[in-house]
Amino acid sequence: MMRIAVLVSGGGSNLQALIDSEKRGKLRSGRICLVIADREGAYALERAKHAGIKALLINKKALGKEPFEAALQEALLEADIDCVILAGFLSILGQTILDAYQNRIINVHPSLIPAFCGDGFYGLKVHEAALKRGVKLSGATVHYVNHITDGGEILLQKALPVKKDDTPESLQQRIMEKAEWQILPRAAEMLCRRLCKERNDAKRKTK
Ligand code: GRF
Repeated sequence: MMRIAVLVSGGGSNLQALIDSEKRGKLRSGRICLVIADREGAYALERAKHAGIKALLINKKALGKEPFEAALQEALLEADIDCVILAGFLSILGQTILDAYQNRIINVHPSLIPAFCGDGFYGLKVHEAALKRGVKLSGATVHYVNHITDGGEILLQKALPVKKDDTPESLQQRIMEKAEWQILPRAAEMLCRRLCKERNDAKRKTK
């Protein structure tokens, strides 16, 4: 059973999808052991507390970049975390954590990468750009996190039609409900299952 940390910055609807997925027994190979917010006022922390999950605020603005990174690393280590899920997390992770959790960090992005991603594409900005470009399909992507923003290997994607009368808000809501909240829990199970297998294979080798 992998120990999962979920990093958040906002409302936590993707975190809630992960929590609900675990409750329904869909997230079988991992357990959410820790939720960390990088800023004050993230309702996601309330969701974690309500679900009985350890919830931490590590305030990046108050701490500054390096101390934030160090505190984040310390919290992950202390909780013996195996893998990290970025769920509406708006801070860029530094190289120390990326190296420590290589191929063990995933992120959900609200577009079909490589469209509308990278620096500056987050939240409503993604959907504003999609509507401005006039794409007929958009959706969500779960990908591994590396040193390139939204640049890691793609794990899962789900596409949805863009409606003629869509606003950035209506498109965001539909992509969250019909895409993000579906594929993030599925990707989390894929990640944890792979890590469990790797751990068991390593144990067999040492016998
Ligand atoms: C939303 O824009 C979502 O598309 C993106 O992060 C934002 C907040 O998500 N992934 P959440 O409700 O905090 O999970």
